[in-house]
Amino acid sequence: MTTLSIIKADTGGFVGHSAVHPEMLAVAEEALREAVSDGLILDGHADSCGDDISLIMTHEHGADSERIHGFAWQLFQRTTGIAQRLGLYGAGQDLLSDAFSGNLRGMGPGYAELEFTERPSEPVICFLADKTEPGAWNLPLYKMFADPFSSAGLVIDAKMHAGFSFEVYDLYEEKRIVFDTPAQSYDLLMYIGAPARYVVHSVSSISTGVLAAATSTQRLSLIAGKYVGKDDPVMIVRAQSGLPAVGEVLEPFAFPYTVAGCMRGSHHAPIMPVSRAQAHPARFDGPPRVVALGFQIKNGKLIGPRDLFDDPSFDRARAQANEVMDYLRRQGPFEPHRLALEDLEYTTMHALEQRLADRWEAMPGVAAPAAH
Ligand code: F6R
Ligand code: MG
Ligand code: MG
Repeated sequence: MTTLSIIKADTGGFVGHSAVHPEMLAVAEEALREAVSDGLILDGHADSCGDDISLIMTHEHGADSERIHGFAWQLFQRTTGIAQRLGLYGAGQDLLSDAFSGNLRGMGPGYAELEFTERPSEPVICFLADKTEPGAWNLPLYKMFADPFSSAGLVIDAKMHAGFSFEVYDLYEEKRIVFDTPAQSYDLLMYIGAPARYVVHSVSSISTGVLAAATSTQRLSLIAGKYVGKDDPVMIVRAQSGLPAVGEVLEPFAFPYTVAGCMRGSHHAPIMPVSRAQAHPARFDGPPRVVALGFQIKNGKLIGPRDLFDDPSFDRARAQANEVMDYLRRQGPFEPHRLALEDLEYTTMHALEQRLADRWEAMPGVAAPAAH
């Protein structure tokens, strides 16, 4: 079995929260090369979206491996060192603990991991996003694996006809459930339509049982108990021969649906599919970006990447994202551009409530102030 892991962290932004400094990426690439020659991993590629570094690695240690997670942790400490030396913004932002203890769960970095037996030809797409949250993958995953108006293979390909199972995490209560589509599509949509709480963690084929997709599902803000930045997500999707074709995997991103994130992790904004060269959110710390890196995996080697959104067929989505951004921005601090109070990552409201507690008084005709 081969494991494909994407482990990512924001260890410092250049400039502000907009990008990763080239020196940090160079160090990551060098460390991955060393890890290949030391025999720890089969292959590795370092990339970035916005201010997050992603380590894309193939290996034989399985998911949640202490050796692989420990390697990533040490590497992120080195890139934090560079960020500190250069005075980059938010150095070490996602490293929430001082000591590594077995795996990265709850420690800040995000990761998506997928174990599989390599097919004779193994096309995979690694999606990296910035300025949004893990639930941002819910809508495109539904379209890829459950919407026949988006993925023609669900109707046409006999191997896809039986549908797909979606494993959904409840991030608030830390429990999971599996829904089979198409039979339970409406139940599934009831939950994953609330992406701040319910997040698709993985998808597998009902007819073959193979794992087709995996996402990162960590929520930094809850883990840390305080605001530390949106936990920008990553996702792995395998494609072709009984799974959605590469073009079906990419098709949902031709529509720039709205996600939570953007400025101060506190706004709804359209997600913009971009090439790696354009993956540097600038306007209003957004719009949120997604890049799609395509690889063929052969004997564990990562052949690629191909920069799949570097394609004029996504120009319309980008233009529409800019239009939607203009429209939403004009609403300034009003919902639904600004997130609902309970989803805001900044805590001004709590401070305000304390400061103004004795200025609130009962409405005329009401005996005592209503509790709020
Ligand atoms: C969003 C994000 C940025 C920051 C914003 C303010 O996820 O990281 O939008 O929230 O730039 O950053 P601070 O509070 O560090 O000045
Ligand atoms: Mg940052
Ligand atoms: Mg980020």
